[in-house]
Amino acid sequence: MAQGVGVAVILGVLNGPNLNLLGTREPHIYGTTTLPELLVRLDGVAADLGVSLRCAQANGEGTLIDQLHAWRQEVQGVVINAGAYTHTSLALRDAFAATALPYVEVHLSNIYAREPERRHSLLAGGAVASVVGFGVAGYEYALRGLVDALRRGA
Ligand code: DQA
Repeated sequence: MAQGVGVAVILGVLNGPNLNLLGTREPHIYGTTTLPELLVRLDGVAADLGVSLRCAQANGEGTLIDQLHAWRQEVQGVVINAGAYTHTSLALRDAFAATALPYVEVHLSNIYAREPERRHSLLAGGAVASVVGFGVAGYEYALRGLVDALRRGA
């Protein structure tokens, strides 16, 4: 268990549009691991870190924002892959500002090496950190990094 982080720490893992189709969606870009498989792996990481997870996925921007509002009093930080909303959603960035939830942004692919419209993230500026290009392993790195940042007082 991570020192200084008690079992009471709860973190959110929020996945945005089309990530429910992980495993079959453009596997040459996003890999073959399904979202349920990814979440099982993250539960193992969370157990190792001594934290609990709340996981959600939504295809709608408003639903993602509602989820952040609902988590405001429940979680201490969020790992988010906002999918394509990363590149468009000022509302999602505002939701993080409004809830004051620290977050780590994660992307399976390296968005900075893809099409020009994917090379800008509206979330990056407010994030504790961004993890891109490591496939599903990036979620684990993001989770470990977020817990470490919280331990250091992020
Ligand atoms: C993504 C990258 C986004 O540009 C894309 O719209 C996604 C997935 C990724 O994880 O690499 O849906 O966030």
